[in-house]
Amino acid sequence: MKHHAVRTGAMRLTGVGLALILAACQTATPAPTATPVPSPMPLPELTGDPVRGGVLYDQWWKVTGAEAPSGDQPLWQTQTSNTRTGADTWRCKECHGWDYKGVEGAYGSGSHKTGFEGIFAAAGRHPFEILAILKGGANPGHDFSTVMDEQALTDLALFVAQAQMDAAELVNADKTPTGGDADKGKIMYEDTCAACHGPQGTAINFGDESEPEYVGTIARDNPWELAHKLLHGQPGSDPFMPSAASFDYTLDDVADLLLYTQELP
Ligand code: HEC
Ligand code: HEC
Repeated sequence: MKHHAVRTGAMRLTGVGLALILAACQTATPAPTATPVPSPMPLPELTGDPVRGGVLYDQWWKVTGAEAPSGDQPLWQTQTSNTRTGADTWRCKECHGWDYKGVEGAYGSGSHKTGFEGIFAAAGRHPFEILAILKGGANPGHDFSTVMDEQALTDLALFVAQAQMDAAELVNADKTPTGGDADKGKIMYEDTCAACHGPQGTAINFGDESEPEYVGTIARDNPWELAHKLLHGQPGSDPFMPSAASFDYTLDDVADLLLYTQELP
């Protein structure tokens, strides 16, 4: 199965899409005698890093160096099914999911369920509109400008608008990959991951002694999380875990890695 190139492809598409819309508007303009329709004010272009936006989406304070937030995010009290408290409630991923589909995705059931919508439908919108949402423009409870600076919010907006993977292209609802080539995945794993995580993925334990969590565990339990972290990086990891951006991975490569790492212990 062929996947789209992830980041740059999506960014270019936005430009092409815009051009198409403009072209369509022009052809729709009636007879030359009609007074020209005034074009709407163009929204400002935002400059930033959508890949960093993805790391912020995971756990923003580890990226900005801020203190972990205390207390619950204001919107948290509007749901009761997810019983976490404190800093976790401030992570974008906790409300919108690793698959970006919120209640319609993997967080539609289980302990992470909030019932909140995803962000996938916002992909392709103008980043400036997303920025406004992140500043509480649509709902004052969704104002993150109190905890993040303009650049962080801009990077997040660019991530939402331009860099979301379509999780359905990669993983089925039962967590099996939709495709991929495990042999290619093995080569990539040994070239890029084994140095830090060991040949079997067990060199770093993300859990604890009684409940160890390794690359293989995450790949099986939460393939969406693995895919997101492969594409964007691991917040606060030391040494910093390089993201797909630095390897120039495509979604195809991520599929190969996913298939292979699901076989690891
Ligand atoms: C405590 C839960 C919560 C957190 C944390 C959260 N959101 Fe939201 N978000 C919501 C809810 C609920 C909505 C629904 C719209 C509304 O009422 O504002 C929403 C709406 C959105 C939308 C609009 C979606 C659409 O299609 O209209 C975007 C984009 C978004 N959030 C991005 C983010 C980002 C990026 C972060 C991290 C900085 C974040 N959210 C953190 C709960 C949350
Ligand atoms: C430069 C070293 C380095 C490389 C290369 C690296 N990682 Fe990591 N990785 C880390 C560190 C450090 C952590 C954070 C461990 C922690 O938080 O306990 C991490 C975390 C992870 C996590 C766990 C995320 C979580 O849920 O906490 C996964 C899964 C993972 N890496 C997979 C991979 C894969 C697959 C590759 C190859 C594409 C890779 N890593 C390459 C250093 C690296």
